[in-house]
Amino acid sequence: MADIHFTYLPGDGIGPEVGAAAIHVLKAMAEKFGHSLKIEKHLIGGAAIDAGLKPLPDETFTSCARTEAILLGAVGGPKWDHLTGAERPELGSLLPLRKRLNLYANIRPCAPHPALIDRAPLKRERLEGTDFIVMRELTGGIYFGDKGRDNIGAYDECRYSEAEVRRIAVKAFDLARGRKKKVTSVDKSNVLETSRLWRETVNDVARSYPDVELEHLLVDAMTMHMLTRAQDFDIILTENMFGDILTDEASVLAGSMGVVPSASISDGRMGLYEPIHGSAPDITGQDKANPIAMILSAAWMLRLSFGLNAEAAAIESAVDAALTGGHCTADIGGTLGTQATGQWIADHVG
Ligand code: IPM
Ligand code: MG
Repeated sequence: MADIHFTYLPGDGIGPEVGAAAIHVLKAMAEKFGHSLKIEKHLIGGAAIDAGLKPLPDETFTSCARTEAILLGAVGGPKWDHLTGAERPELGSLLPLRKRLNLYANIRPCAPHPALIDRAPLKRERLEGTDFIVMRELTGGIYFGDKGRDNIGAYDECRYSEAEVRRIAVKAFDLARGRKKKVTSVDKSNVLETSRLWRETVNDVARSYPDVELEHLLVDAMTMHMLTRAQDFDIILTENMFGDILTDEASVLAGSMGVVPSASISDGRMGLYEPIHGSAPDITGQDKANPIAMILSAAWMLRLSFGLNAEAAAIESAVDAALTGGHCTADIGGTLGTQATGQWIADHVG
């Protein structure tokens, strides 16, 4: 029997709704497998601001650092749009959380479910068989460089150390080794010095993985290749901002943003798990949001932070059955609400 102790951050908008569905599924899993759940629930983002706190309250951060596993709904929304810089819900919470917990590797999958392929804007034959993972560097680059204004304009500095590139490249090659054995590294080395360092370092890491094929692509070309030959990719390795952009593009291939989970990990068991979608203020409070991305994020937490592979797989196969049978929300063709979808999946775990 395992003690599954984690920090739960529902956040803003639909976060608490998809979060409630995921917690429900986790409880069903715990019951089936005889585990105990210990959940520390805390405020983050706009919800924290509304309570008179900082976007990332000290108490929230301490809980995250202590439990080493974090399940997060979503942060931000139009209500806080008037705020600037680190006062904003996302900038003031997500970025410092990533940086301070050293969550340097962000993993976002793209494997369109057969039941959803016809919902994606690409032709079926361009999508069938697609199964890749984007490994995005998450704590360096232009997001965290020196930034500011001067008397003629504004600037954002982009820096990478060789060590930062090396550690994310190692993660990508390790992951590729257990899959299709191919890494596609994406940069802009025809223009950027950081990209030249990126490419040299990735080439160097590749020497220790002779069994893994390595391909380099420039980021502008990659946006096209992702649409024309998505099936060719296994692990797409890239820096922070390119990864931000490419993972939004990849989410469209999956047929719905509402089904894609993510993990942000470090060395060891520390991990932050969240759906790739945002807080969706337009449908908040209507029991319409698709909880599947959040439920799959919870499954990833079980696998990556707690090593509970069978438990994660049990949730994933319940989700698979929900998608195949159409037991889901309206955005992907079902007729169920958020909580009823969570209930259906909870009932089919195990
Ligand atoms: C993401 C988001 C964040 C990012 C924002 C909200 C800061 O777009 O996780 O992809 O740019 O990293
Ligand atoms: Mg993004």
